[in-house]
Amino acid sequence: MLKRTHHCGELRKDHIDQRVTLSGWVNNYRDHGGVVFIDVRDRNGITQLVFHPENKAAHDLADTLRHEFVIAVSGVVRERIGPKGEPAHNPKLATGEIEIDCDQLEVLNRAQTPPFTPDEFGKVGEELRLKYRYIELRRPTMLNIIRTRHRVAKIMRDYFDAEGFYEVETPFLCKSTPEGARDFLVPSRLQPGEFYALPQSPQLFKQILMVAGVDKYVQIVRCFRDEDPRADRQAEFTQVDLEMSFVEQDDVMTCVEGMIRKVWKDILGVEVPVIQRMPYAEAMDRYGSDRPDLRFDMELIDVSDLAAKTDFKVFTGAIAAGGLVKAIRVPGGSKLTRKQTDALAEWVKQFGAGGLPITKIENGAVATGVGKFIAGISADLIARMGAEDGDLLCFGVSEKPAVVHRVLGELRVKLAHDLEMIKPGQWEWLWVVDFPAIEWNEDQKRWDSLHHPFTAPNDEDLAKLDSGDHKQIASIKSKAYDLVLNGSELGGGSIRIHRPEVQSKVFALLGIDEEAARTKFGFLLDALNFGAPPHGGIAFGLDRVVMHLCNTTNIRDVIAFPKTQTGADLMTDAPSHVDDVQLAELSLRVQTHNKKDKSV
Ligand code: AMO
Repeated sequence: MLKRTHHCGELRKDHIDQRVTLSGWVNNYRDHGGVVFIDVRDRNGITQLVFHPENKAAHDLADTLRHEFVIAVSGVVRERIGPKGEPAHNPKLATGEIEIDCDQLEVLNRAQTPPFTPDEFGKVGEELRLKYRYIELRRPTMLNIIRTRHRVAKIMRDYFDAEGFYEVETPFLCKSTPEGARDFLVPSRLQPGEFYALPQSPQLFKQILMVAGVDKYVQIVRCFRDEDPRADRQAEFTQVDLEMSFVEQDDVMTCVEGMIRKVWKDILGVEVPVIQRMPYAEAMDRYGSDRPDLRFDMELIDVSDLAAKTDFKVFTGAIAAGGLVKAIRVPGGSKLTRKQTDALAEWVKQFGAGGLPITKIENGAVATGVGKFIAGISADLIARMGAEDGDLLCFGVSEKPAVVHRVLGELRVKLAHDLEMIKPGQWEWLWVVDFPAIEWNEDQKRWDSLHHPFTAPNDEDLAKLDSGDHKQIASIKSKAYDLVLNGSELGGGSIRIHRPEVQSKVFALLGIDEEAARTKFGFLLDALNFGAPPHGGIAFGLDRVVMHLCNTTNIRDVIAFPKTQTGADLMTDAPSHVDDVQLAELSLRVQTHNKKDKSV
């Protein structure tokens, strides 16, 4: 076999007159009046090969090449010259100055006509691309993502190594830990009727590693959550998970900021500034979200006092019921048509809104929509909102403040995208801090932890834990922190509870009685009793980090072998039926077997 001397993206003018050997896939072939042109591709790029009829054997073989054949060729590097001897460079290709005048060709493997070529990915549906994932992955964009992901993981590992972290592997066959999502279960053959859970995160193991004295732990680790996939969520995803001993919140945040700074600098050449912090309550109040996108304004502004002065029942009714009226100012939003604003009013209903009152600003006053009902407050409203002619005001109204925040929080993001307010290349970082430790779940009539039950409450709030007073409990803040980039949650973590008596109080508040606590995570409680150091940590979504770096909004793009919306792997056809013998070994019987839904 001809052994390659260079990669397909490597050759430049400096190599002219050198004899080289390349290997790769046939990206394209053309026959120009007897001269055969082949574009050969590998993971580094594309090079043009030329076969002249004078080198008959190689030329005739080249004439039989088709898309995705695997070849090795040898020849001499020449400058690309046009018919009149003028340079004919192709500026679109890194190797566009040269071509290879080939005299040797080996066909290493033939390929059937592929269902699509890497260049044709835009013409076929994602289902087909996922079924033939290896062809899709041959696309330079995809190989570039794979390379970037590899580099990111390496930069992170090197960073943490230099900071004194040890990478420790934790089990995949575990007892379920309460992270909030559904577990994937694995039946045990040796203990019939018992199940392992795949880890939603290594949370408890990393805490136990701190008890063990590991001091600084990191792991790039697969996590499993049986929840419905979304654009930035897969059931099987990767965390950069870390934990540190003898630290406080600032130590963890500073450490990971250093990591983020290094990754963005090394991969994109972008300097990440000192990342600003915002309390959770402020994020909800101003942006209606605990992961605000700061690339655009449209802040939520409370106009309840003005709304109360109108006769508009929608406003006054909500306020009388203890609710809120907030508004966002959409610059230039008056260009939206009636049809578009009606569609928005429908769209917000999924977040609990009854509708979406709007008004346009024309000639210095509220004009359309609910304008006629609120004319009396027009001047005050415009002043409060800083509104100008051509703007649109959208109101969030509900007796439940949480609904107002959710509706306007989601709406400002949608409008920013729809109205193309986001400039490319913007990076808006934010630490969200001072989360409430627990929140009241009205449906279930119980307290839920906002992060997880191992998150430490603020020291000054500890006394409130057993106050028995609803208001006091609701006001307990925790030592939790989330890192947000451009409105997406990149990572979240906290300082943990390291004293067993505090942990027991939190469990009691969450309605987890002693027996349940012992059954679920007795091993952690035991460990806390045997000298747990103060500790805390964080986990990042590696997939999300790579999505940002590679500028894609689809998490499947950054995972080599992703699953569809319905949890299927279209290439291997997982999940699949297993035979009765396998089931019997596991003491299992299947009750229903549905036909698979494979949609993306
Ligand atoms: P959390 O559940 O917030 O924290 O997860 C940490 C980060 O992991 C990413 N992530 C996901 N990415 C893709 N698909 C998913 N389904 C998915 N779920 C989470 C997000 C998120 O910010 N044990 C704690 C961390 C800690 O407290 O140290 C935990 O898992 O980017």
